[in-house]
Amino acid sequence: MVITLFRLSIPPEQEQFLEEKFINRSRLVDQVKGFISFKLLKKTQNENGLEYILMTEWETEEDYKNWLNSQDHARIHKKEGAPFSGNKTELFQVVCQ
Ligand code: HEM
Repeated sequence: MVITLFRLSIPPEQEQFLEEKFINRSRLVDQVKGFISFKLLKKTQNENGLEYILMTEWETEEDYKNWLNSQDHARIHKKEGAPFSGNKTELFQVVCQ
């Protein structure tokens, strides 16, 4: 199993806008091979703006990469544009749980 983490920072006035987008997400990914879960995490203590982590879980790294290169992924993120700043996605292998 692998986990992807992607940090996102937004100004406080975009909080509701961002959260509603993800709450109302298309859920196309839910049917994708190897997909396990999606979580939007909000940091509880914030100093400058608001910090979130987008977390996804996949059976294998290959499943994640296939989705990344898929039309669904491109369509969703093109439609939304990228009004929020973020860093690179980090990939972790689950050792035990
Ligand atoms: C600045 C960067 C990003 C922005 C602004 C962004 C924005 C969004 C928005 C607004 C949605 C909901 C739209 C929808 O599902 O119709 C979404 C869905 C999603 N995003 Fe991103 N995203 C970003 C980066 C990433 C990255 C790096 C990943 C990789 C792990 C990712 C994974 C997902 C997943 C799994 C969904 C759910 C798709 C679904 O429900 O079918 N996003 N993104």
